[in-house]
Amino acid sequence: MKIPFVDLSRQLKDIFPEIEEKWHEIVHNSRFVGSKYVKEFEDKFANYLDVKHCIAVNSGTSALYLSLMALGVGRGDEVILPVNTFIATAEAVSLLGAKPVFVDIDKKTYNIDVKKIEKAITDKTKVIIPVHLYGQCSNMDEILEIAEKYNLYIVEDACQAHGAEYKGKKAGSLGDLAAFSFYPGKNLGAFGEGGAVVTNCDELAEKIRMLRNHGSKVKYYHEMIGGNFRMDEIQGAVLSTKLKFLDTWNNMRRKAAKIYNELLEDVVITPYEVPYNKHVYHLYVIRVDNRDKIKEYLQKHGIETGIHYPIPLHLQSAYKFLNIPKGSFPVAEKVADEILSLPMFPYIIEEEILYVAERLKEGVKNG
Ligand SMILES: Cc1ncc(COP(=O)(O)O)c(C=O)c1O
Repeated sequence: MKIPFVDLSRQLKDIFPEIEEKWHEIVHNSRFVGSKYVKEFEDKFANYLDVKHCIAVNSGTSALYLSLMALGVGRGDEVILPVNTFIATAEAVSLLGAKPVFVDIDKKTYNIDVKKIEKAITDKTKVIIPVHLYGQCSNMDEILEIAEKYNLYIVEDACQAHGAEYKGKKAGSLGDLAAFSFYPGKNLGAFGEGGAVVTNCDELAEKIRMLRNHGSKVKYYHEMIGGNFRMDEIQGAVLSTKLKFLDTWNNMRRKAAKIYNELLEDVVITPYEVPYNKHVYHLYVIRVDNRDKIKEYLQKHGIETGIHYPIPLHLQSAYKFLNIPKGSFPVAEKVADEILSLPMFPYIIEEEILYVAERLKEGVKNG
């Protein structure tokens, strides 16, 4: 049996006829940029999240970058983020000349350890970026309290958390701003690159709309220096079509996670879902001893797996210049050696999950 890590082709039957129709229209009207489908998607996604504004952009990295830029983050500022995340979270900070300040993660959820945030705050701190990793929200009440106490902004990195909920509220509706990625394999994915910033703040929304488009509201009149961070119409059409299926697909992921949990909870450390969260399992991440050997064993039996992420950010070559020694973030460092992401996507079938679980049990038993 061959089990892919993600198989996007299985969702085509839900969406492709509608997308083909929209594409036909876009191509024949030659309206590739800044037309109705991007706007339609922005309205629908804002409505889905229950936020006032959605500004569609060309990647999650751009969404993070523009969010921080709109808040005026720059040289001399510090931004707090978890040390276990995709590097884009930190890159957005670095590209603006500010300093990423890493915080260790919680050993159960793998999200930022809220108990360690206050120690990382200095008089240069401007923003906290909680990353809702793997599809589960960070502990937002505590983070909001800290942000209020120290007068800091919150930019949620919701790039892995489309449709996830914290105490009944959607990821992306909890901070000052939030960034989403629509990279194809995400719970809501484009047919290429895409991203969005969402916010309830009118002023920030207006600023980001301008920054996305060379700092202009009126063509060739530039009020500030921005860039080209626009989403194209084809992706707008794909995303507004796919959005209708997001809740169904997330529930399919949750069902798959439940089956994995039942089969694996006595064998490995299965994901911990905080009772008041709705985890949307962008990734299904277990922890296991001898991870590399187990990964190899699964690969030999046709099962693709991933590691998210193998090296915590402070130990990446790109961040060597910060001189943060090994041992500084013991939880993240330990977890990085043990985590393994199993195949997870909406249309994975029970038979495939059973096969993965069986091979995993064998691998663990054989050491
Ligand atoms: C947590 C996190 N932040 C940021 C990003 C960046 O998004 P993009 O790849 O769309 O630039 C990703 C995407 O992988 C991500 O998972």
